[in-house]
Amino acid sequence: MDLASLTAQLQALRAEALPRIAAAPDLAAIDELDLHYLGRKGGALSVLMRGIGALPVEDRPRVGVVVNEVRQAVEGALGAAREGAGAAALAARLAAETVDVTAPAREIPRGALHPILETIDRIAAIFGQFGFVSYEGPEVETDATNFRMLNIPPDHPARDLWDTLYVDVPGGLLRTHTSPGQIRVMQAERPPIRALLPGRCFRYEATDASHASEFYQVEGLMVDEGTNLADLKGQLVEFAHAMFGEGTATRFRPGYYPFTEPSVAFDIGCLVCGGSGCAACGRTGWMTILGAGMVHPVVLRHGGIDPERYQGFAFGMGVDRIAMLRHGVTDLRVFLDGDLRFLEQFR
Ligand code: DAH
Repeated sequence: MDLASLTAQLQALRAEALPRIAAAPDLAAIDELDLHYLGRKGGALSVLMRGIGALPVEDRPRVGVVVNEVRQAVEGALGAAREGAGAAALAARLAAETVDVTAPAREIPRGALHPILETIDRIAAIFGQFGFVSYEGPEVETDATNFRMLNIPPDHPARDLWDTLYVDVPGGLLRTHTSPGQIRVMQAERPPIRALLPGRCFRYEATDASHASEFYQVEGLMVDEGTNLADLKGQLVEFAHAMFGEGTATRFRPGYYPFTEPSVAFDIGCLVCGGSGCAACGRTGWMTILGAGMVHPVVLRHGGIDPERYQGFAFGMGVDRIAMLRHGVTDLRVFLDGDLRFLEQFR
């Protein structure tokens, strides 16, 4: 092998490679040619370079110059071909994957919050502005938390207020109200406490348009030094105005609950007749939306709170009643039926 023939072979390699690379149909073909000409081990250029060792020493740099020229030419051709193939592949994809933006969209079925949950959210949002935080209590409670710790001893006549469903666990029952959550929050937190406890309650009731054996309440509890009845009144009136409108009439009446002293009932002016008296308000012009009062010292003590230092107020409101008023629903049972014809109206 001499300088002239090695040079000629290198030129021939270039002459052969460039048009083949330019004609390669896709990236895979280009990669294959890359390996064929420039592959480190068996590539055509490497094979020719083995001949350099046989040349006289003074010829070697000259042939090195040619090798570099050929390598650069082939590398340049490969780069250009890759660019072209990439652009072609992209153009092909763009052509194949066109989206018809004028095609009508597929309908995505949208759900909605159940009107009861939506009402709970609204109540929580309003009391949230007064600093109340929502907690969750269990639906299965015990005689202790549902009654005794709330100052309702066994055999006390006040138990008649709650027709109770018992479960097959010693002392276990389905909570008849959200008030046991008061005990749980007081035992878990230190004052100042501002807690909201929404949830489902159960009573042994015959079902009709305004009674059901399952229903929803939202309990409120505030405990701090110096909390008094005026705080309770102010917050409930503010709540009624935010919930039912600024002009809503409100009134407090004396009430009785074993866990509050004093106890009150809180009424709003009938939203149906505006106060003149109708079937919805029993011709009184008023609707009772919650019971409330100052937390009984016995209850505070059961919550681990010193009644000499702290006072509290509590309230419990019926959510179903409020949701009925909000949506003009006259039969409570539609909330529980799961009838999509009713529920889909709230989307
Ligand atoms: N738990 C009562 C009920 O279900 C409602 C109630 C009244 C809750 C007065 C209270 C309260 O927190 O202070 O009938």
